[in-house]
Amino acid sequence: MDIFISKCEEDTLQVAENFAKTLKGGTVVAFLGGLGMGKTAFVRGALKGLNNSARVSSPTFALVNDYGGIPQVYHFDMYRITDEDDLYSTGYFDYLTDDAVLFIEWSENISQWLPDNTVFVKIELTETENCRKISIFTGEEK
Ligand SMILES: Nc1ncnc2c1ncn2[C@@H]1O[C@H](COP(=O)(O)OP(=O)(O)OP(=O)(O)O)[C@@H](O)[C@H]1O
Ligand SMILES: [Mg+2]
Repeated sequence: MDIFISKCEEDTLQVAENFAKTLKGGTVVAFLGGLGMGKTAFVRGALKGLNNSARVSSPTFALVNDYGGIPQVYHFDMYRITDEDDLYSTGYFDYLTDDAVLFIEWSENISQWLPDNTVFVKIELTETENCRKISIFTGEEK
Protein backbone atom coordinates (compact mmCIF):
# COMPACT_ATOMS: atom_id res chain seq x y z
CA MET A 1 0.00 0.00 0.00
CA ASP A 2 1.30 3.45 -0.92
CA ILE A 3 0.12 6.42 1.12
CA PHE A 4 0.51 10.08 0.15
CA ILE A 5 -0.55 13.27 1.84
CA SER A 6 -1.79 15.91 -0.59
CA LYS A 7 -1.95 19.48 0.68
CA CYS A 8 -3.56 20.98 -2.42
CA GLU A 9 -4.92 20.10 -5.85
CA GLU A 10 -1.45 20.53 -7.35
CA ASP A 11 -0.10 17.81 -5.02
CA THR A 12 -2.87 15.43 -6.09
CA LEU A 13 -2.06 16.07 -9.75
CA GLN A 14 1.59 15.25 -9.07
CA VAL A 15 0.85 12.04 -7.12
CA ALA A 16 -1.44 10.93 -9.95
CA GLU A 17 1.08 11.78 -12.65
CA ASN A 18 3.81 9.71 -10.95
CA PHE A 19 1.39 6.84 -10.32
CA ALA A 20 0.24 6.72 -13.95
CA LYS A 21 3.74 6.47 -15.41
CA THR A 22 3.79 2.74 -14.70
CA LEU A 23 0.14 2.06 -15.65
CA LYS A 24 -0.42 -0.60 -18.29
CA GLY A 25 -3.38 -1.42 -20.51
CA GLY A 26 -5.77 -3.85 -18.85
CA THR A 27 -5.83 -1.93 -15.56
CA VAL A 28 -8.93 -0.72 -13.75
CA VAL A 29 -8.27 2.18 -11.37
CA ALA A 30 -11.19 2.39 -8.93
CA PHE A 31 -11.71 5.45 -6.72
CA LEU A 32 -13.02 5.14 -3.18
CA GLY A 33 -14.08 8.35 -1.49
CA GLY A 34 -16.94 10.80 -1.55
CA LEU A 35 -17.92 14.10 -3.10
CA GLY A 36 -15.26 16.58 -4.06
CA MET A 37 -12.31 14.52 -2.84
CA GLY A 38 -10.32 15.18 -5.99
CA LYS A 39 -11.09 12.09 -8.06
CA THR A 40 -11.45 14.03 -11.30
CA ALA A 41 -8.32 16.01 -10.46
CA PHE A 42 -6.47 12.70 -9.99
CA VAL A 43 -7.56 11.55 -13.46
CA ARG A 44 -6.30 14.84 -14.90
CA GLY A 45 -2.87 14.26 -13.37
CA ALA A 46 -2.85 10.62 -14.43
CA LEU A 47 -3.46 11.54 -18.08
CA LYS A 48 -0.39 13.73 -17.96
CA GLY A 49 1.61 10.74 -16.68
CA LEU A 50 0.25 8.67 -19.56
CA ASN A 51 1.28 11.36 -22.07
CA ASN A 52 -2.36 11.74 -23.04
CA SER A 53 -3.27 15.33 -23.89
CA ALA A 54 -7.07 14.86 -23.87
CA ARG A 55 -9.06 17.38 -21.84
CA VAL A 56 -10.43 15.73 -18.69
CA SER A 57 -13.94 16.58 -17.58
CA SER A 58 -16.30 15.02 -15.08
CA PRO A 59 -18.36 12.30 -16.81
CA THR A 60 -21.36 13.15 -14.62
CA PHE A 61 -23.86 13.30 -17.48
CA ALA A 62 -22.16 11.24 -20.18
CA LEU A 63 -21.32 8.50 -17.60
CA VAL A 64 -18.17 7.72 -19.58
CA ASN A 65 -15.57 9.89 -21.33
CA ASP A 66 -13.29 8.41 -23.98
CA TYR A 67 -9.84 10.05 -23.93
CA GLY A 68 -8.27 7.90 -26.65
CA GLY A 69 -4.52 7.40 -26.48
CA ILE A 70 -2.23 4.42 -26.07
CA PRO A 71 -3.20 2.85 -23.76
CA GLN A 72 -6.78 3.80 -24.53
CA VAL A 73 -8.26 5.64 -21.51
CA TYR A 74 -11.89 5.66 -20.36
CA HIS A 75 -13.20 7.69 -17.40
CA PHE A 76 -16.45 6.55 -15.74
CA ASP A 77 -18.77 8.13 -13.20
CA MET A 78 -20.79 5.36 -11.55
CA TYR A 79 -22.66 7.70 -9.18
CA ARG A 80 -26.04 6.82 -10.68
CA ILE A 81 -25.36 3.17 -11.48
CA THR A 82 -27.41 0.88 -9.29
CA ASP A 83 -27.57 -2.48 -11.06
CA GLU A 84 -25.95 -4.66 -13.71
CA ASP A 85 -28.28 -3.45 -16.49
CA ASP A 86 -27.25 0.15 -15.82
CA LEU A 87 -23.63 -0.90 -15.87
CA TYR A 88 -24.03 -2.78 -19.18
CA SER A 89 -25.54 0.31 -20.74
CA THR A 90 -22.41 2.36 -19.99
CA GLY A 91 -20.31 0.01 -22.15
CA TYR A 92 -18.19 -0.95 -19.14
CA PHE A 93 -17.97 -4.64 -20.02
CA ASP A 94 -16.95 -3.84 -23.61
CA TYR A 95 -14.22 -1.45 -22.45
CA LEU A 96 -12.66 -3.96 -20.04
CA THR A 97 -9.94 -5.02 -22.46
CA ASP A 98 -6.19 -5.60 -22.26
CA ASP A 99 -5.59 -2.40 -24.21
CA ALA A 100 -7.50 -0.01 -21.99
CA VAL A 101 -7.04 1.79 -18.68
CA LEU A 102 -10.34 2.53 -16.92
CA PHE A 103 -10.67 5.22 -14.23
CA ILE A 104 -13.85 4.72 -12.20
CA GLU A 105 -15.36 7.35 -9.93
CA TRP A 106 -17.89 6.04 -7.36
CA SER A 107 -16.55 2.50 -7.84
CA GLU A 108 -18.32 1.59 -4.57
CA ASN A 109 -21.47 1.23 -6.69
CA ILE A 110 -19.99 -1.48 -8.92
CA SER A 111 -17.67 -3.23 -6.46
CA GLN A 112 -18.92 -6.69 -7.37
CA TRP A 113 -18.04 -6.17 -11.07
CA LEU A 114 -14.48 -4.94 -10.59
CA PRO A 115 -11.76 -7.32 -11.82
CA ASP A 116 -9.41 -9.06 -9.37
CA ASN A 117 -6.43 -6.94 -10.40
CA THR A 118 -8.20 -3.62 -9.75
CA VAL A 119 -6.03 -0.86 -8.32
CA PHE A 120 -7.86 1.16 -5.66
CA VAL A 121 -7.24 4.86 -5.07
CA LYS A 122 -8.85 5.88 -1.80
CA ILE A 123 -9.02 9.62 -1.09
CA GLU A 124 -9.98 10.81 2.38
CA LEU A 125 -10.24 14.15 4.15
CA THR A 126 -7.81 14.90 6.92
CA GLU A 127 -8.20 17.36 9.77
CA THR A 128 -6.34 20.04 7.81
CA GLU A 129 -8.26 22.07 5.25
CA ASN A 130 -7.56 21.07 1.62
CA CYS A 131 -5.45 18.18 2.86
CA ARG A 132 -6.20 14.69 1.55
CA LYS A 133 -4.84 11.26 2.39
CA ILE A 134 -4.43 9.22 -0.80
CA SER A 135 -3.98 5.45 -0.38
CA ILE A 136 -3.19 3.29 -3.40
CA PHE A 137 -3.53 -0.49 -3.09
CA THR A 138 -4.63 -3.62 -4.92
CA GLY A 139 -7.59 -5.80 -4.03
CA GLU A 140 -5.33 -8.24 -2.20
CA GLU A 141 -4.11 -5.50 0.16
CA LYS A 142 -7.62 -4.28 0.91
N1 LIG B 1 -5.63 18.22 -1.84
C1 LIG B 1 -6.53 18.36 -2.82
N2 LIG B 1 -6.54 17.50 -3.86
C2 LIG B 1 -7.44 17.62 -4.83
N3 LIG B 1 -8.39 18.57 -4.91
C3 LIG B 1 -8.42 19.46 -3.90
C4 LIG B 1 -7.50 19.40 -2.83
N4 LIG B 1 -7.78 20.42 -1.98
C5 LIG B 1 -8.82 21.07 -2.50
N5 LIG B 1 -9.22 20.52 -3.66
C6 LIG B 1 -10.35 21.00 -4.46
O1 LIG B 1 -11.36 20.01 -4.39
C7 LIG B 1 -12.05 19.93 -5.64
C8 LIG B 1 -11.94 18.52 -6.18
O2 LIG B 1 -12.75 18.44 -7.32
P1 LIG B 1 -12.85 17.14 -8.21
O3 LIG B 1 -13.87 17.43 -9.23
O4 LIG B 1 -11.50 16.71 -8.66
O5 LIG B 1 -13.39 16.08 -7.12
P2 LIG B 1 -14.24 14.77 -7.36
O6 LIG B 1 -13.87 13.85 -6.24
O7 LIG B 1 -14.06 14.27 -8.74
O8 LIG B 1 -15.72 15.33 -7.15
P3 LIG B 1 -17.14 14.63 -7.52
O9 LIG B 1 -17.46 13.79 -6.33
O10 LIG B 1 -18.06 15.79 -7.66
O11 LIG B 1 -16.95 13.86 -8.77
C9 LIG B 1 -11.41 20.96 -6.56
O12 LIG B 1 -12.17 22.14 -6.51
C10 LIG B 1 -10.03 21.16 -5.94
O13 LIG B 1 -9.49 22.44 -6.18
MG1 LIG C 1 -15.46 13.80 -10.17
